[in-house]
Parts: sequence; structure tokens; C-alpha cells
Amino acid sequence: MDIFEKCLNFNTAKEAMARGIYPYFKALEESEGTEATCDGKKLIMCGSNNYLGLTTHPKVREAACQAVVRYGTSCSGSRFLNGTLALHEQLEEELADWVGKESAITFTTGVLTNMGTISSLVGRGDIVILDKEDHASIVDGAVLSSGKVERFRHADLGHLERVLKSLPEESGKLMVVDGLFSMEGDLAALPDLVPLAKKYGVRLMVDDAHGMGVTGGGHGTAAHFGVTDDVDIIMSTFSKAFASLGGFIAGDEDVVHYIKHHARALIFSASIPPANAAAALAALHIMQEEPERIVRVNEIASMMRTRYQEMGFNTGDSVTPVIPIIIGDNELTFKTWKVLFENGVFVNPVISPAVSPGRQLLRTSYMATHTDEQLEQVLDVFYKSGKQLGLI
Ligand SMILES: Cc1ncc(COP(=O)(O)O)c(C=O)c1O
Repeated sequence: MDIFEKCLNFNTAKEAMARGIYPYFKALEESEGTEATCDGKKLIMCGSNNYLGLTTHPKVREAACQAVVRYGTSCSGSRFLNGTLALHEQLEEELADWVGKESAITFTTGVLTNMGTISSLVGRGDIVILDKEDHASIVDGAVLSSGKVERFRHADLGHLERVLKSLPEESGKLMVVDGLFSMEGDLAALPDLVPLAKKYGVRLMVDDAHGMGVTGGGHGTAAHFGVTDDVDIIMSTFSKAFASLGGFIAGDEDVVHYIKHHARALIFSASIPPANAAAALAALHIMQEEPERIVRVNEIASMMRTRYQEMGFNTGDSVTPVIPIIIGDNELTFKTWKVLFENGVFVNPVISPAVSPGRQLLRTSYMATHTDEQLEQVLDVFYKSGKQLGLI
């Protein structure tokens, strides 16, 4: 059998393209934070993870440019060998401080952070316990490990406890959850997860890719709930509020030291390029210097959520700047996306398997730099589109 046969027979995306409702891999001709141009059309960007609007901040741009001037465009090697700059170490020290942990280590992307961390910690005979809505890279890290993978229904503490009770006491155990769930914008119930983890001898890792810079005054979801000391490993990425590319974990010195020497995704992948490390560091400084951005993005989120709900949209359990508009059907999700796009609003359609069947949604997300005028325009387009398609 030709291994390419599946490629020749893969028609789902082509059919959607032919019908003009294919929404993925859209090339942006311009992208300046809250506005983007696509197919020659100006759009208000409500589909970005640039929560604090820092990708265009003059100090972040300048830091990235200066790093290229000073260090060149690539580290041309991994952290383990020739790819460690003093800049990486400064970034790690400041990040550990920011999240309230002893030590931190950066990886080249968030995906690699999860893959490297989980697969290096969870060995033969160990067990990794995941929420069913965890990010794909957490699942991939677990699958890549030599341990056993257990999953519990999203945010279902009763189910989680049944799973934990069934596990052998002698096994090493790691539970990994998103802090801020990336599709529906709800927060992990860390105040409930912490005591359960302690009761069953489970270490807890929180992927705060979307929470860092946004929740807990920017210090993340563990800080939001006041449980930083009880979360063993805090993970995040630079591709969201940090306006860059890369990822990190923070935790006890010994644990970080072990991961540094065992995570294949770290040891065998080139380190974060200088411009990205410098941009992430500059973004961290701006979080400290301009906390009003963190306040603003959260204020925008509560205003938008209330207005969507008043119109009759279902925003699920979102309590953050990620606000889903739950549609519940693939076809209707694509159609709504198209109407919004044609009327100048960029959002992300999310269908199963990225979300469970029945939870198909338009993922909207907000930036501290959105203007009130832009937001009113978005709400107006949503209202008219929702009426046109019978959603509200
Ligand atoms: C929860 C979560 N973890 C990890 C990642 C991966 O991060 P990156 O895009 O920086 O590789 C993402 C990215 O979407 C994410 O949403």
C-alpha cells in the first residue's frame, strides 16, 4: 500500500475551499495588533493571543532589533551546547521571580516545553493524569513519555477523584492541566485540584500559556488563586502575552535541573533566537511597568462577555479574555465565521476534535490595545450576523 494514499484521498478541506467556507491558513498581508489585512480587506483582529498588545510596543520592537544587532539572527545550537546566551539566563532568572519559583528554564516553543518536560519526568511505571480539554502539546508530551496516561472529564472533580483513587500508590504521578483553557476561556479550579493532588501524592503542573500576563495581575492563574507554592511546575509560552516565541517552566531548582539534563526537546533543539528572547524579556518588563494593560484587557473581557450574553449568545464558562461563542455545529460555525469575516471581524472557528462535539465555537480573544470604537463595531457585527443566521 502506498503510504501517500491517505493524502490523495483527503478531500474534506478541499471541499470546504470549493464552497468558499474554508477558514484556515488565512495569509495576513498586514498585521498591526488590533487590525489586520486579509484578502485586501481590513479586519478587526479578535483572534489573536497578543493579549497585552505588545507585539507592536516600541520597546519590544527595539529590544528585538538590538538583540539581532548584538547577537545575530540565530543561536545555531541548543541550550545544552553552544546556544545559551547570557540573555537566556537573565530571562530565566526574571521569569522565576515573576512567577514566584526558585528556578526556570526556557525552551524554543511552548509545544516543545510541554513535550520535553512531561516526557522527561514521566518514566516507565509512572502515571500522567490529564484533563480531557488539555492542550494538544500536553497530550503529546504524555504520549511521548514511557508512563501510563489517564484522563478525566473536563473540570469534573468527582471523576478526577475516582481516577486518582484507582491508581497504584507506589507509582510516581503527575497531573497536568491548562491554567486558562485555551478554547473556552475557563480557569482550572486550582483551589480544588491542589488538595486532591496532595491527598493522592500527585505532583501538579499548570500550563499557563494563556493565563500568564493576563490573570493574577499578570503572574498567572496560580497567583490568581493564591496557590503558587502548591503548584509544583508552572509552564507558559512567549507566543501570547509575551509577544514573542518560546516557552518556559518554573519550579524547584532540583526539578528544573533534572529537566534541563533529560528533556530531549531542549537538548536536541536550537535555543530561542536572540530577538525572541529579548522581546520576551522586554514584554516582561512592560508587564511590570505598565500594569494598566493587564487591568484593561480584563475590563474589556468582562464588558464583551456581558454584552454577548445580553444579546443571547452562549459564552460558556469563560471568565477571561478568551470568550467562546458556542455554536454547536461545524457547518454553522463555518458559515458564521464567513459572515463575520465579510463584515470585517477576524475570529477563529473551532470544530471537533479541537472541542467536543456539540461545543463547536467561534473563539474570540481580546487585547489591551483594542479601542472602545473597535469593540463597539465588533459587537454590532456580531449582533447583525447573529440575527441574520438565527443564532440569537
Ligand atoms: C495551552 C497551550 N499550551 C501550549 C501551547 C503551545 O505554545 P506555542 O504556540 O508557544 O508552541 C499553546 C499554544 O497554542 C497553548 O494554547
